[in-house]
Amino acid sequence: MKNSANTYGSIPRFLHWVNALLIILVWFSSNIDDDSILFYWGHMMLGIATLVFTLAQIIWFFVDKKLDPLPDLPKWRKIAIHWNHILIMLIAFLVAASGIFLWQTDQFEDFHELLSTGLVLLFLMHVAGTFLYQFTKGKTLARMGIKFLDKK
Ligand code: HEM
Ligand code: HEM
Repeated sequence: MKNSANTYGSIPRFLHWVNALLIILVWFSSNIDDDSILFYWGHMMLGIATLVFTLAQIIWFFVDKKLDPLPDLPKWRKIAIHWNHILIMLIAFLVAASGIFLWQTDQFEDFHELLSTGLVLLFLMHVAGTFLYQFTKGKTLARMGIKFLDKK
């Protein structure tokens, strides 16, 4: 269940992939007409679910031991990866919290949108960095449980 030196445990893997899916769905659901019941369930309730999963990810990040950094990378890329992980969790938390605030008070819509744009940028960097490493250097998706892309 817990992390080893080179693989995330089953709990952080579960939290990561469910939250990744939720964030993608919440992002797409922001385009639904906001007066409809679908926006309420699609955007707000899934958004609240991402808040719960993000909080769980943050707690797990501090409680469990860290994996060894990915090998064969210059120091600046190791630092960039570390900060991408911290910021993506922090901004995901702030987007969802500001969404609840917006829902309750009808204020700071621009702030909510700005944060969500920041989250998308971090997400794109995260996914681009993951695939760049996977196809030029070696295993990173396998550390998060996706093994079929690795050559035997
Ligand atoms: C579908 C898109 C995604 C892919 C392909 C992906 C891929 C990965 C991979 C391969 C790792 C392991 C890196 C390593 O080898 O150490 C990782 C870690 C991580 N990902 Fe993602 N990810 C995705 C979406 C997300 C999203 C939406 C979030 C937002 C919360 C996120 C947050 C994180 C965090 C915080 C870590 C580090 C976990 C830790 O150190 O405890 N990922 N991701
Ligand atoms: C990762 C989580 C979230 C993301 C990425 C996100 C993204 C967005 C985006 C991009 C918009 C702008 C839509 C537009 O007007 O074009 C928006 C609007 C909004 N969001 Fe979120 N959101 C998230 C979570 C939440 C949560 C948790 C709530 C409330 C429980 C919420 C409530 C709202 C509301 C009330 C609006 C305003 C709709 C309107 O009046 O136009 N959001 N969100």
